Amino acid sequence: MLRLLRRFFLSAQTQRNLKSAAVQQSLCSTTLQCPGFAVSRLMEPKLYRPPPKVRGMTTLDKEAFTQTITVPALRVHTRVLNKVVKCLKKSTIQRPGVLRVVQDKEESNDYRLVLLDPHKVSSTSSFSEAEAEALRSFSVAEELQYYELQLTYDNLKSEEVLEAVLPQEQDVTSGFSRVGHIAHMNLRDHQLPYKNLIGQVIMDKNPGITCVVNKTSIIDSTYRNFKMEVLAGEENMVAKVKENGVTYEFDFSRVYWNPRLSTEHQRVVQLIKRGDTVFDVFAGVGPFAIPAAHLGANVLANDLNPESYRWLQHNCKLNKVESRVRIFNLDGRAFIQGPVKQELPSLLKGKATVHVVMNLPALALEFLDAFRCLLKQEPLYDQNLPIVHCYSFSKDDNPDVDIVQRASCSLGFPLEKQCSVHFVRNVAPNKDMMCVSFTLPKEVLFNRDELTEPSEEPAPKRQKCEETTASS
Ligand SMILES: C[S@@+](CC[C@H](N)C(=O)[O-])C[C@H]1O[C@@H](n2cnc3c(N)ncnc32)[C@H](O)[C@@H]1O
Repeated sequence: MLRLLRRFFLSAQTQRNLKSAAVQQSLCSTTLQCPGFAVSRLMEPKLYRPPPKVRGMTTLDKEAFTQTITVPALRVHTRVLNKVVKCLKKSTIQRPGVLRVVQDKEESNDYRLVLLDPHKVSSTSSFSEAEAEALRSFSVAEELQYYELQLTYDNLKSEEVLEAVLPQEQDVTSGFSRVGHIAHMNLRDHQLPYKNLIGQVIMDKNPGITCVVNKTSIIDSTYRNFKMEVLAGEENMVAKVKENGVTYEFDFSRVYWNPRLSTEHQRVVQLIKRGDTVFDVFAGVGPFAIPAAHLGANVLANDLNPESYRWLQHNCKLNKVESRVRIFNLDGRAFIQGPVKQELPSLLKGKATVHVVMNLPALALEFLDAFRCLLKQEPLYDQNLPIVHCYSFSKDDNPDVDIVQRASCSLGFPLEKQCSVHFVRNVAPNKDMMCVSFTLPKEVLFNRDELTEPSEEPAPKRQKCEETTASS
């Protein structure tokens, strides 16, 4: 009797709510902003929306998110319960921390309630043909029950919480990159009053994240790290990450690390073979150098930042490749004109490939002139010239052409027909990261005034350099 009364009381209003929610669902859209770790802008189905009173909250009060919603359910005998749940996979409720099967309090122990998604099921006719057939075959009464479900903060997704709290009409999109236990955000001005709440929500909803930081300056320091403030969690900036099977540890607040470069690191490392030599001019904490050494290459890795140098050393030991990597703490130009210049003559006589990696996209092209006239010409040297992989940003409409022109200017030699250009990633609207790869021309590398043998070749083609504009 009680059950009948309750059902009567709930039916009209609930049916209306469920129907409108089901219609709304078909209008909703979800946009994933960046793969993996994005908080999306979405129009969430009405019923899961937290209570309106949470709007504008700046200190997280989890209790305020608790509410009771009514969801449809089916009474199912325990004998066929598992099979029915399996058949109704597409229609059952899917919420973090919400059980799909609950005790049917008013009936015998032989029955359970299977909770259904209110946005998909508004009446028994919402079931697909196959679901309806399965229900009949398991003798499940096709009669909807209504269950009052308590939804708490724990049952909401981070985007649902943030969309309910942050001002309406303003974008809540708030992606983050993950660096070990650290979530690294780049909040916009209108989000700043809510920064600690946002940090807490990101931490609560992402297992393994124990620290959330916000970037507070653009990345314009020499060492390519940026200032950050801790929004939530522990202030431990020493992260441990795995990239392409290699483990790195570093203080994220003091060195450069970008999880979005893993594919690029892998692309270049794949070009390297056992016995090759790699000069990594701007090595950071080792994402080119260490995998290359792992493959059996001999590596000379350099970074101007004493902290990068220290963590690079640490990571070589951590990955047991310290015997294959020599580490330097020099300016890139001094590295090219010191250790690179010293090692090249014997390497150029050998057969193994020599790679020079220059990943400092804001400036690396400007370092290419350090190769001009680096060595004295000797006949044998022409055989095995180094391959350079040099990175740059470009804001040009035609970034491929732009990067080749600027590399040519810096080298004083036209590279147009003897290089390849690879698009790495789009870093901002109208700003691409590119990589130009080329064999270092002998006309650049050798000082022709100091030829040890007369050459029959024409004088080197030197390119006049217009003022270069590093668009970074
Ligand atoms: C964009 S990061 C690249 C790090 C690493 N190769 C990677 O792919 O993640 C550039 C690195 O160059 C270093 N650096 C900046 N200026 C430098 C210079 N003049 N000479 C040598 N290293 C420099 C920075 O400390 C930083 O670690």
